[in-house]
Amino acid sequence: METTLILIKPGGVQRNLIGEITTRIERRNLKVVGLKLVNAPRETVEAHYAEHKERPFFGSVCDYLTSGPVVALAVRGENAIKAIRAMMGATNPLDATPGTVRGDFALSIDDNLTHSSSDPEAAANELALWFPEGLVA
Ligand code: CDP
Ligand code: MG
Repeated sequence: METTLILIKPGGVQRNLIGEITTRIERRNLKVVGLKLVNAPRETVEAHYAEHKERPFFGSVCDYLTSGPVVALAVRGENAIKAIRAMMGATNPLDATPGTVRGDFALSIDDNLTHSSSDPEAAANELALWFPEGLVA
């Protein structure tokens, strides 16, 4: 069993895609074990994207993540990390396969609707960052 972190970014919340994205996760038979709507503090977002600190898009992606509420989901299941990454699709929505969240609902890399943990180490760090109180199950 793996547990992974998903963020529905501000664009996804504004476009009323919380239900659509969460439904897809549940239909895949992955279990929601943490769920909240938050106005993320800048320092949380900067810690979340710390690996990208030196990249040119770091400032703009942090601006985007703090531009409105985000939904943080902790999701558990067999191979959940890889399964969720595949469901969300390629980082650039133009490369994302139809049938993925980004391939179905996004057009632009700077508004690509979701984040999901890339590997077990990232998942552990991100779950601790977004759910410091711990998970429900
Ligand atoms: O989100 P994912 O893991 O697929 O991509 P990433 O390479 O870890 O980049 C993190 C986020 O930065 C992306 O989801 C985009 O929102 C943003 N980004 C961007 O705006 N422009 C880029 N050239 C690359 C990433
Ligand atoms: Mg990433």
